[in-house]
Amino acid sequence: MNHFEYRDGVLHAEDVPVPEIAKAVGTPFYCYSTATLERHYRVFEAAMPKGTLVAYAVKANGSLAVIKTLAKLGAGADIVSGGEMKKVLAGGVPASKIVFSGVGKKRDEMAAALDAGIYQFNVESEAELDVLDEVAASKGAKAAVALRINPDVDARTHAKISTGKAENKFGIGWGRAKAAYAHAAKLPSVKVVGVDVHIGSQITELGPFREAFAKVADLVRDLRADGHEISRIDLGGGLGVPYDGSAAAPPLPDTYGAAVHEAVGKLDAQLIMEPGRLIAANAGVLVSEVIYIKRGDTKEFAILDAGMNDLIRPAMYDAWHEIVAVRTAPNVQRRVYDVVGPVCESADLFARDRELPQLSQGDLVAILTAGAYGAVQASGYNARPLAPEVLVKGRQFAVTRPRQTVDDMIAQERWPDWLL
Ligand code: LLP
Repeated sequence: MNHFEYRDGVLHAEDVPVPEIAKAVGTPFYCYSTATLERHYRVFEAAMPKGTLVAYAVKANGSLAVIKTLAKLGAGADIVSGGEMKKVLAGGVPASKIVFSGVGKKRDEMAAALDAGIYQFNVESEAELDVLDEVAASKGAKAAVALRINPDVDARTHAKISTGKAENKFGIGWGRAKAAYAHAAKLPSVKVVGVDVHIGSQITELGPFREAFAKVADLVRDLRADGHEISRIDLGGGLGVPYDGSAAAPPLPDTYGAAVHEAVGKLDAQLIMEPGRLIAANAGVLVSEVIYIKRGDTKEFAILDAGMNDLIRPAMYDAWHEIVAVRTAPNVQRRVYDVVGPVCESADLFARDRELPQLSQGDLVAILTAGAYGAVQASGYNARPLAPEVLVKGRQFAVTRPRQTVDDMIAQERWPDWLL
């Protein structure tokens, strides 16, 4: 579900014609819909057991305006760095709704999170437990902790976004879990409050979730039997979204919510969920202009002014994104293109052998479902400045991050003395 629709043959973001934004900000740019963000958040929250803390995984889309839009609806945040903590606090998420995940938290990040008074640390190793205990002790604080357990479950998603198999770096090995809890219980400045799991991203079947949630439920019962007070269960994120209309659709939030209820609903614990992609992906598009059409010996290429530095998902995860022409006309001829960017890498390819309405130089296209893991993963490769971000609400739009300039990029560098 999203709010990007054609009206009289022109793609609109809510009530704003996309070409109007292109004219104002140039291309490429990211464009997000407030209505879609709000809808996804509300649908997800409604599907979860009452009282669930929905901690939006801000890594999916870290735009301050997006964070604030969600914070206003009551969202919490799942963060993975001190940087993300600063951003979500700036975006209006109260510290009491922040959970801190990640395998490599540093002391200064822990200290800042303790100072801010976040809700919970999701700890991923025994070594991290010890360091957190030290940092908390040095402040006379007590850190609320859930241990992230690696349940050794195959999420059946792309290998690069699978996190719950024993060979992945994430979480505490299933076989070590009880010992890690016993160790944590002895640490004076750590208070163990929960169990956490996250098995991967863009998961399109319920099976892996059910398997992981059932393991968590068993562990919670075991830990309680051992005398640990487990009052919170964090089931992570990972629910996939439909990128390709023809592929099997991922479970709907309701179905997923029912699986959550079934697995842990009776355990009398505060539930935490960390959705990222589900909230943001379909709320964003990347708009780009066709620079050239080029006939190769075996292919026709549509060369865009957006590249893999703007949206790396196809190059990095073999991701399929729908691409549409911003203006359509009835009975327009269709052609097959490789849709590519200008970056000097053969991996700079958004779509291979894609049938699209015939494109011409200067046409606008939109790459859909780009609201999650799009702008946040952009880089300045090939000295290409970061694309701007625009948020739409009804008939209004605002540039929430202006286009970076090459001068901005140059200003970030310093001459060593010997080159002056
Ligand atoms: N919680 C934790 C601990 C995570 O590591 C992640 C995502 C999430 C929640 C949110 O997962 P989601 O609901 O968005 O699936 N860049 C990749 C995806 C990386 C996901 C990393 N972790 C991509 O573009 O597919």
